[in-house]
Amino acid sequence: MTPPDAHDPVLRVRGGGPLEGTIRLSGAKNSVLKLMAASLLADGAVDLSEVPSISDVPVMGAVLEGLGVAVTHDVDAGTCRLEVHDDRTLRPPRDAVTRIRASVACLGPLVARRGAAEFALPGGDRIGARSIDLHLDGLTAMGATVEHGDDGVVVRSQRLHGARITLDFPSVGATENLVMAATLAQGRTVIENAAREPEIADLCRMLVAMGARISGIGTPTIMVEGVERLQGVAWETCPDRIEAGTYLVAAALTGGRVRVERVRPDDLTLPLRKLADAGASVDVEGDTVTVERGVAELRPVDVVTLPYPGFPTDLQPQMMVLLTQADGMSRCTENVFESRFSFVEQLRRMGADIDVDGHHAHLSGPTRLHGATLDGLDVRAGAAGVLAGLVAEGETVVRDVHHIDRGYADFVPRLRALGADVVRDGDGADADG
Ligand code: UD1
Repeated sequence: MTPPDAHDPVLRVRGGGPLEGTIRLSGAKNSVLKLMAASLLADGAVDLSEVPSISDVPVMGAVLEGLGVAVTHDVDAGTCRLEVHDDRTLRPPRDAVTRIRASVACLGPLVARRGAAEFALPGGDRIGARSIDLHLDGLTAMGATVEHGDDGVVVRSQRLHGARITLDFPSVGATENLVMAATLAQGRTVIENAAREPEIADLCRMLVAMGARISGIGTPTIMVEGVERLQGVAWETCPDRIEAGTYLVAAALTGGRVRVERVRPDDLTLPLRKLADAGASVDVEGDTVTVERGVAELRPVDVVTLPYPGFPTDLQPQMMVLLTQADGMSRCTENVFESRFSFVEQLRRMGADIDVDGHHAHLSGPTRLHGATLDGLDVRAGAAGVLAGLVAEGETVVRDVHHIDRGYADFVPRLRALGADVVRDGDGADADG
């Protein structure tokens, strides 16, 4: 356990009644950061809307500013304009790169547009090895050379050429990087076993609006015909399906009723089915989803994380909290990030009965959770810790709040608006705001 830092804010959660109310979704974290990186490819300005107020956005902005992009971010309006004014820099600022994994999304665009990229190894959550070998292998197949040094990697290429690339694993980041690189390569690139996450489709559609020629969007085989240049674009970030899932799980967990607006229900097929299997009532109407449980008991379910359309690994910790309250044995299998079960230890501290066997977790419920101090969390485990606190006896203190800030816009005010007893303590922030 890391020693407490008096200046680090914490969230204090008290278990209480059901969450009730409406949430309008923010733009997706895992989309906006890549849309921002794509501005490196454009000859004009990229104007993004529905930009979520999460801390990863300014960090990505700093990465891009270091690469000669003028970034005008209006947090209140949820907009961000990005326009390249100097295309000579090849090395993004090290401190920002090591803070967020998504900064690796600049790699493909830099090599495609500027002929080289120099990268410290990217950072982000500590939830697995998360190497970038698939990104580098794909760029190599397109004609780039890769040198590994003490300070990261240097990737160079005169002009990339099209290639047929079969990914070992449908990596989200590798698929995005290779698609972006291929938009300006000479000839046709085919990416097989591509990842199909909705955020990748969002990126591909924006690239098409910029003048790219991409087919097979949203399928495991993406084809890209390289073009000479891409223009600027105005684009609305797609809604955050993981944010949606988090609040909907919270509704089922607390026996409440939460309506989520601006959602794409098709992106949440499996999570919604699992919530229904667990005993919640799920109502889909256009772009709103309402989850309600009332006093019905929660039933155990099995959850297996897999690349989309499988159950998202980014909802696994939240789902695990729900399953601690289900009556019987549930099983949760993690197939995407090897260290994502580190959250289990935190839940055990709260009294959860969970056995881990490799990448399987066996949960026995229902267990009465009690408050505890949680730390060592990532974005999703942080949010899940808060959810656990909502049904625990006494006070739960969630440290490492900066992780939650990376991915959830206005988490505390939104939860409070739904009736949760949660306050932010220690950084002078207004508990309500
Ligand atoms: C993205 C998301 C993250 C989500 C994940 C899976 C962003 C900013 N993050 O992360 O929230 O949990 O997708 O849905 O969009 N791998 C390799 N070599 C590579 C690339 C990946 O071994 O070159 C492995 C990783 O270690 C991991 C697995 O593949 O075990 C999945 O990684 P990937 O799909 O690339 O996830 P990210 O793009 O990092």
